[in-house]
Amino acid sequence: MSYILGISCGYHDSAACLLKNGKVLSACEEERFTGIKHDFSFPHNTIKWIFESNSITKEDIDVICFYESPEEKIDRIQKSTSKKPTKWYNIFSKKNNIVERNKKGYQLLLKDIENIKGKKTKISFTDHHSSHLAYSYYTSPFESSAILSVDGVGEWKTTALGIGKGNKIKELQNINFPHSLGMFYSSMTAFLGFKPNEGEYKVMGLAPYGNPTKFNLKFEDIIQDSEKGEYKLNMKYFTYEYSDTHMFNENLGEQLGIPNRLPNEPLTQDYKDLAASVQFQYEKFFFKLLDRLYKITESPNLCLAGGCAYNGTANGKIKEKTKFQNVWIPPAPSDAGSCIGASLDYFYKKKKQDRVQNINPFLGPYYSKEYMLRALNDYSKDVYYDWKPREEMIPFIAHQIKENNIIGLFQDRIEFGARALGNRSILANPCDPQMKSRLNRVIKKREGFRPFAPICTFDSLTTYFNYDSEIPYMNQVVKVNDRFKDKLPSITHIDGSARVQTVTHNSNRYISLLLKELNKVNGFPIVINTSFNLKDQTMVLTPTDAIKTFLNCEMDILILGSYVVKKKIL
Ligand SMILES: [Fe+2]
Repeated sequence: MSYILGISCGYHDSAACLLKNGKVLSACEEERFTGIKHDFSFPHNTIKWIFESNSITKEDIDVICFYESPEEKIDRIQKSTSKKPTKWYNIFSKKNNIVERNKKGYQLLLKDIENIKGKKTKISFTDHHSSHLAYSYYTSPFESSAILSVDGVGEWKTTALGIGKGNKIKELQNINFPHSLGMFYSSMTAFLGFKPNEGEYKVMGLAPYGNPTKFNLKFEDIIQDSEKGEYKLNMKYFTYEYSDTHMFNENLGEQLGIPNRLPNEPLTQDYKDLAASVQFQYEKFFFKLLDRLYKITESPNLCLAGGCAYNGTANGKIKEKTKFQNVWIPPAPSDAGSCIGASLDYFYKKKKQDRVQNINPFLGPYYSKEYMLRALNDYSKDVYYDWKPREEMIPFIAHQIKENNIIGLFQDRIEFGARALGNRSILANPCDPQMKSRLNRVIKKREGFRPFAPICTFDSLTTYFNYDSEIPYMNQVVKVNDRFKDKLPSITHIDGSARVQTVTHNSNRYISLLLKELNKVNGFPIVINTSFNLKDQTMVLTPTDAIKTFLNCEMDILILGSYVVKKKIL
């Protein structure tokens, strides 16, 4: 077996990847090419790039692995939409029928796959949560580990508990639709006036401003423990079983005693308290799941998967609240990463070989120096640029950050997953108390309550943060040590926390050197890191995207590979 092409698409965050003998060679989200946030369309552009950059054709692909089973999913949608109350028939016309739409989507998917498969290429459909479990475990550094996958829903499963040993994964237990922690969080995200599958970060960011126990009694009827220790949602409050546009009904507002918030309405204290309570409820059931998983597996290691693995606030408390000692959360735990998961699941089921290390998150397109120069020359009316050797570049950037300049950094291959990890990042000074509002005002234009995240060298982590393990992909929120909270105002959230990313010389040499230099000139081996994009845009992919974004906002300097780029007209 040589090449496997993995695909996930159809719901949100489409992506594709290429594996050769178990090694992930390439992976990228389709949104990076199309510019459509959370693009769910078939990843034509990503696959085209994969073929071209690896100099292969469809005839070289042995297997195409799809991240879920569409037929089973349609079965679930068919069965659950039949629960639709009579009055809902009037709201949705036949044209809008979810089952029909999904059946059509499946036919289109088969056609798209047919067009990219070679004469001998096989097609494999993997169970949705098997893909999640496999992505997290097989990309982890652990020889064996407990694995938990929590998301909205796959085919039927919404939660899967498993154990990985060597090159095998065994699924232990699961929880089925409609009982779903992901759907609970997304429904409450919608209730709070944010977009589900996107606004969950906003709920998490808002939570520290509220009272987490204020709605405790009200939630007792909304989400409960079942006799088996599973969680159960009271479906009297939710509509997502039969609607893909509405997640809750009027009963939810009546139960909570407040109306749902519309997107542009003010975020009153009630809504802040509700956000805090939603996070509190999520954590309550999440930690119960983890306790159950530990009891069954007794493994010190935990791999997390599924969209809920982006809940950094809960993830940051795992070591303190459970018996797990080591936590692994891959860079793209949501459905995007499942293209890799489905492929690795297939690979290890067919090949009984030792595990291949797949830790590198920088799996997307790379652009040469010539490509960058062409892009710079295309914009020569707007920018001027200067080449610098690495030994001058790192001190230059550190000095600029200390001077409170906002830097766009474009290096090497784009990272896979929702977070910028230093290759497509905007960097700024964490010590400047004005930096958070300045970044929000001139670049990100996002809600003022949301914090910015720092990168810190791993060897200095315990000095500045109350945590002692690597967090390579920014998916755990930890406490800033008390004596540095005032000194690092732009990365310290209102509750004293920060969603930190750690780097080592091996994980990202460039950023590691930069942080060491910053330590010398600015006093801290820490920098603000936010993704290189403007509000509602996707992370920049190409040098041209980077230059355009640089020109469209008040970023001070762009570092494009070895070029320092400045604006001609400020
Ligand atoms: Fe999922």
